[in-house]
Amino acid sequence: MRRLVRETRLSAGDLIHPLLVVHGQGIREEIDSMPGSYHWSLDLLPAEAEEVARLGIPGVILFGIPAAKDAIGSENFDDHGIVQEAIRTIKKAVPELVVITDVCMCQYTDHGHCGIVEDGRVLNDETLEVLARVAVSHAAAGADVVAPSGMMDGQVAAIRSALDATGFNQVAILSYAAKYASAFYGPFREAAESTPQFGDRQGYQMDPANAREALREVALDIEEGADMVMVKPALAYLDVIRQVREAFDHPLAAFSVSGEYAMVKAAAQRGWIDEKRVTLELLTAIKRAGADTILTYFAKDAARWLSE
Ligand code: PBG
Ligand code: ZN
Repeated sequence: MRRLVRETRLSAGDLIHPLLVVHGQGIREEIDSMPGSYHWSLDLLPAEAEEVARLGIPGVILFGIPAAKDAIGSENFDDHGIVQEAIRTIKKAVPELVVITDVCMCQYTDHGHCGIVEDGRVLNDETLEVLARVAVSHAAAGADVVAPSGMMDGQVAAIRSALDATGFNQVAILSYAAKYASAFYGPFREAAESTPQFGDRQGYQMDPANAREALREVALDIEEGADMVMVKPALAYLDVIRQVREAFDHPLAAFSVSGEYAMVKAAAQRGWIDEKRVTLELLTAIKRAGADTILTYFAKDAARWLSE
């Protein structure tokens, strides 16, 4: 009876699995602050991608850790950068798996900011050219979807026109439209070595106190050509997810970020909460709030639990 009248259904098909890829061989290194989540080298990616697909998860989102960092993040748009190679590796192993790439500068720059920096400030418009170059190089390597995450104004338009101009008009854009300046990114920044070396990201990421502003950000990105929009983080922003859902028809994703995962893991390891029940409850809540798709480090576990 409960099943019959259930309003929200969670399934493996709703989930996106994040993958952090690194240079090297034979690397499957667990991230300290994110137990059960790993750094992967290219040689081990095919098996992981196959498992993700076998679990019924439709896609992955790639984050790369470059061999070297510099002022503009050169490896980011290198045809043989770590993400470009990872895209080819996964597409070759499991062509039907949707490959999404995170498009941002912070993992690649020596200062750790999401854009070009001059005199301690991020230069928005100069950054757009770099982001467009990165997106085109991901598309050329075979990415299905590019996901700009740097919250630079005009990034969706810049990427859309660069993709269209280079023959990649079929590549979709998932925009991190409402991305908050959140403390929940801590474990990821440690894992991706992307902590800003000075200042913080409040100049471009959103104030957690603002919800109406999220609607303006989403509206702009849709106008600029976003195919899907995202709210990030998820748990502390369920109201924002709900408001975006009600105001727009576009496919809506929510990113349940590293800090959300780490909190559940830490409490579960101490035996303070039931990891499976808590995780499924949280993911269901994100869907109930209005998300169509959830990016979560729990994707594989959740897919397994849902099929039990
Ligand atoms: C890079 C980026 C971040 C995340 C996704 N892309 C970190 C940040 O903005 O500091 C966060 C992912 C997570 O915490 O799980 N712009
Ligand atoms: Zn960034």
